[in-house]
Amino acid sequence: MGFSAQEVVRLRSLFPALSRRDGDREAVFLDGPAGTQVCQQVVDAISDYLTRCNANGNGVFATSIESDQALDSAHASVATFLGADDPNCVTFGPNMTTLTLSLARCLSKSWKPGDEILLSGLEHDANYTPWRQAAEDAGATVRVVEVNAENCTLKQDDFRSKLNEKTKFVAVGCASNAAGTVNPVASMCAAAKHFGAFTFLDAVHYAPHDVIDVKAFGCDFLACSAYKFFGPHVGIMWGRRELLEGLQPYKLRPSPEDLPGRWMTGTQNHECIMGTKAAIDYIASIGRSEDSSAETTREDLLNAFSRIRQYEKELCDRLLDGLAAIPEVKVWGITDTAERAQRVPTVSITHARHTSVELAKRLAEKGIYAWHGNYYALPLTERIGVEPDGMVRLGLVHYNTAEEVEYLLAQLATC
Ligand SMILES: Cc1ncc(COP(=O)(O)O)c(C=O)c1O
Repeated sequence: MGFSAQEVVRLRSLFPALSRRDGDREAVFLDGPAGTQVCQQVVDAISDYLTRCNANGNGVFATSIESDQALDSAHASVATFLGADDPNCVTFGPNMTTLTLSLARCLSKSWKPGDEILLSGLEHDANYTPWRQAAEDAGATVRVVEVNAENCTLKQDDFRSKLNEKTKFVAVGCASNAAGTVNPVASMCAAAKHFGAFTFLDAVHYAPHDVIDVKAFGCDFLACSAYKFFGPHVGIMWGRRELLEGLQPYKLRPSPEDLPGRWMTGTQNHECIMGTKAAIDYIASIGRSEDSSAETTREDLLNAFSRIRQYEKELCDRLLDGLAAIPEVKVWGITDTAERAQRVPTVSITHARHTSVELAKRLAEKGIYAWHGNYYALPLTERIGVEPDGMVRLGLVHYNTAEEVEYLLAQLATC
């Protein structure tokens, strides 16, 4: 079951920003891939932390104790969101990029000339350049899995052919933030493991669309960002306990040696970590219904994403079918009906007569908010040859509506 039109109206009413008007209608937010809007309960949780127990950690007085308890509950909540058992394996940080740069610097201490690092050509640069730079520092060789330019999928045969005994590390995204492609990460992690390579998954773009399950994925590390799943600007990294404990992060002397503090540099953004927990509570609430037999938050999250997946697929099908009827528009990514299950509803297009920035401006004039350019997915945009102009990204999430898709298609048809 996806969502009825009334249910979407109800969910939208929980997001104050979505009532913004632009011209004679509500603004159409298609910029979710660059950061989703937040629901009121996220705003309230941030405010509640700041007004009730704003304090630094590990003190012996009431607000510090309450703050530590609140933050512990956020670690537990994120662990549930990621399908992880151990809340102490959840690290918070300013954003995914910073956490990745710091993990790369640390991991590469064990790399040496002759070692190989396998990256993907479909990535956001945050899952590419940190590893490239770290490999360069260590004198290790970087290899890159190539992309099928016609549908922006990763060439799995190229991946298999580039894996070998020298491969020490594999980094890949769960979903492309530019083309929407979902990668078969569980089988890729299993193949990498066969050669003893560590695996890192970038789940930033995947997180608002589908269930993250670090155990089922079989990865060693995974990162995401709460501002892409209806929360505030907080980065999240999960790692296997033995690796987080065994590796030596770059850290200050007085900061904790034990988990989870070991990987969390400086004072954290406590209020937004509490906002992150509220975003997860919001998603879980979508999966909770009176007649549901779900007994745990994880089950609620599974139900929620099952509904989100189905609803987003309906919207995406309509968008892709509508775009196919506009001859001047080219979609970069999976369009084939039989393969659409391997994509999330993030659709990048170019236009025969307008540059990407021109098209985005025309849409903005109609109250449609969409990104243009490469959205930092430079490894992909360089490979498919759309630099320097880039594409226009139409990013749907579960708070978008069928009416918005029809309105968008009508505007694109007359651009
Ligand atoms: C797929 C993907 N990975 C990584 C990032 C970087 O995330 P952050 O802004 O948290 O550093 C983004 C941001 O757009 C992204 O879309």
